[in-house]
Amino acid sequence: MKLLYQQMLAFFAVIITLVLVFGALFLNFTSDMVYKNTWTQLEGYSDSLMSESMVLKTADSKTEFNLNLNNLRNAESILKTQNVRFTIYTKKSKIIYPYNAVQDNITKEQWAQLEKGEVVHRTPHANRQLKTDMKAISMTDILKPYFYNGKLYAVISVGASVSNIQANMNQMTRNLVIAFIVSVIAGIILSYLLARYSVSRINRLRRATRMVADGNFDVHIESRHRDEIDDLAQDFDGMVSSLKESEKEIKRQEDRRRQFMADAAHEMRTPLTTINGLLEGLAYDAIPEESKGKSIELMRSETKRLIRLVNENLDYEKIRTNQITLAPSTFDSVVVINNIVEQLTKKSVEANDQIELSVPKNLMVFADYDRFVQVIFNITQNAIQFTESGTIHISAERGYHESIFRITDSGIGMTEDQLKNIWERYYKADPSRKNTKYGESGLGLSIVHQLMQLHNGKVEVVSSEGKGTTFMLTFPDQDESLLINN
Ligand SMILES: Nc1ncnc2c1ncn2[C@@H]1O[C@H](COP(=O)(O)OP(=O)(O)OP(=O)(O)O)[C@@H](O)[C@H]1O
Ligand SMILES: [Mg+2]
Repeated sequence: MKLLYQQMLAFFAVIITLVLVFGALFLNFTSDMVYKNTWTQLEGYSDSLMSESMVLKTADSKTEFNLNLNNLRNAESILKTQNVRFTIYTKKSKIIYPYNAVQDNITKEQWAQLEKGEVVHRTPHANRQLKTDMKAISMTDILKPYFYNGKLYAVISVGASVSNIQANMNQMTRNLVIAFIVSVIAGIILSYLLARYSVSRINRLRRATRMVADGNFDVHIESRHRDEIDDLAQDFDGMVSSLKESEKEIKRQEDRRRQFMADAAHEMRTPLTTINGLLEGLAYDAIPEESKGKSIELMRSETKRLIRLVNENLDYEKIRTNQITLAPSTFDSVVVINNIVEQLTKKSVEANDQIELSVPKNLMVFADYDRFVQVIFNITQNAIQFTESGTIHISAERGYHESIFRITDSGIGMTEDQLKNIWERYYKADPSRKNTKYGESGLGLSIVHQLMQLHNGKVEVVSSEGKGTTFMLTFPDQDESLLINN
């Protein structure tokens, strides 16, 4: 059964029970009252009959009384108009007035009560009906004893028709029935309104729950702290906000994971391509005997770099907390540059590009070795990628407490607008270019940017469309780097 009906039924049951119980009590009480009043009135009649119409005569030890018939007749005719009859007894079955009275039964018990001086009240029942004018009238009467010198000498019974009382009671019952119907209708309306109010608050919670279940966490339920439903609403609100938080955290971690995966794949592609190229060269004997040792050495170092990359990038905790830790050291950057140039030679030949180097014999740089390789490799690879039959110039020099690297190409260059966006992830100035051979996912420069920030270094670009581009990378020396770090 729906909650609405359950609640309505409960309210309704309470209202109906109250009306019925109070109605019954009220009817009972009123009927008692009406009878008591009538009996008091009848006792009054009896007393005045006694004083007005009966004359006591005491002679010697004998007590007698005479009836004042005139008074009695007058009284009888007056009372008759009010449907009141009286009978005077001297003994249990001896009626001395009226003369034509129908014998009414006074039971033994009643007579015994009368002898004790008690007034007997009788409510109507079948054998106390006065048959007059062809119709039976139900009567209620009292029997009142009168004593002289401790001796019962007369009992007067005064009875009144109960039709008036009954009519009053019927009227009262009718009123009560009307009151009952009115309260039933009012009860239905009231219980419906009350139940609907509670149910609507519960439904509000249900709707909110459904929204949350559908993944909408922007649900807010106002609560006025009035009752348990409000408390529930408040708890619900708290639950939704923590769910929202968790959802955000899950999304954030998922984004980080995706970013890490994409970056890792981007960076692993290069050493894998190098190793693959060298292996193919070895397989087809395309590498001269004297270079073989060097090729194997390159493959070894690239494989090691790959392993470090995997360890570094796929560490779940690091992905979760979004931290990349650097392992900086001071090493000769010229060796690295030569290595990279060697790896990219094939690519530059394919693009008909000339690579020129102007580097000193040695140039120490303070950086994370693998990350440094990543940065220089990405920039140089871009330079070759965006230059057809041109020159790529790589220079390295010492600055003031820093090492400076410039990679200049004579390629397609970039417009101002394009320059603004190159650090964005997945940005490509010309999205129609799909050179999947070298990746071209638009990730390279965003990785470079992130890594240069971690090194407290700088990366600057100068470019003009159609003429070429220069990337300048600055790595602070150890002391400077520490200074900035602290
Ligand atoms: N040397 C350059 N000359 C001209 N445009 C460049 C140069 N370097 C980068 N760009 C522009 O900046 C964009 C972003 O470079 P980025 O290295 O981030 O991505 P990508 O090279 O397209 O792809 P990925 O490096 O992920 O394989 C490039 O698509 C290109 O339009
Ligand atoms: Mg690139």
